[in-house]
Amino acid sequence: MESDKPAVYAVNKNAFGQDAEARLVDLLREGNTFIPDLSIVAELDGEIVGHILFTRIKIVSEAGEEKHSLALAPMAVLPEFQRQGIGSKLVEYGLAKAKELGFPSVIVLGHEAYYPKFGFQPASKWGIKPPFDVSDSVFMAIELKVGGLEAVSGTVEYPQEFSSV
Ligand SMILES: CC(C)(COP(=O)(O)OP(=O)(O)OC[C@H]1O[C@@H](n2cnc3c(N)ncnc32)[C@H](O)[C@@H]1OP(=O)(O)O)[C@@H](O)C(=O)NCCC(=O)NCCS
Repeated sequence: MESDKPAVYAVNKNAFGQDAEARLVDLLREGNTFIPDLSIVAELDGEIVGHILFTRIKIVSEAGEEKHSLALAPMAVLPEFQRQGIGSKLVEYGLAKAKELGFPSVIVLGHEAYYPKFGFQPASKWGIKPPFDVSDSVFMAIELKVGGLEAVSGTVEYPQEFSSV
């Protein structure tokens, strides 16, 4: 919700210890890759303590064919509330919501020990590449429906906001 904007900014700023991700969320809100239903907050006693965002991305094949997907980024839980399962609940709820909305897949650049437990696997399994140089194990994807990444290969194109913060 628009009224959650300041609290979501604070959660991202505090979790990351800098404001780049918080500013990124605000920029993404204004762009055409933003999906209000996929900007999700975790509340505890009426206070926003966590946030996860999924935005629209494209996977572009070498032949120039475009498939749509989602990027999970960023996600944040206030430091004092971390390691209590709130982040996991946000990922699980977000993936379920994305599936309900009909999205075929989600891509994440993140910690290799965290995301596999939700079903993410190295995106290289499907021939999906990041637009920058990162290790194979941290660039992951998940199918939200059977065959969601079948015949989808290529390079991920992030919303331009990602390169402006
Ligand atoms: C990543 C984050 C959202 C997880 O939220 P959370 O509520 O602590 O997550 P959960 O309680 O569901 O899971 C915690 C587990 O994830 C692991 N974990 C959390 N952050 C991790 C990280 N950055 N790298 C590796 N593992 C991490 C912890 O080891 C923990 O496992 P353990 O308790 O068995 O040791 C939170 O730690 C955070 O806000 N971090 C700072 C911002 C960030 O790095 N965001 C992710 C990149 S977009």
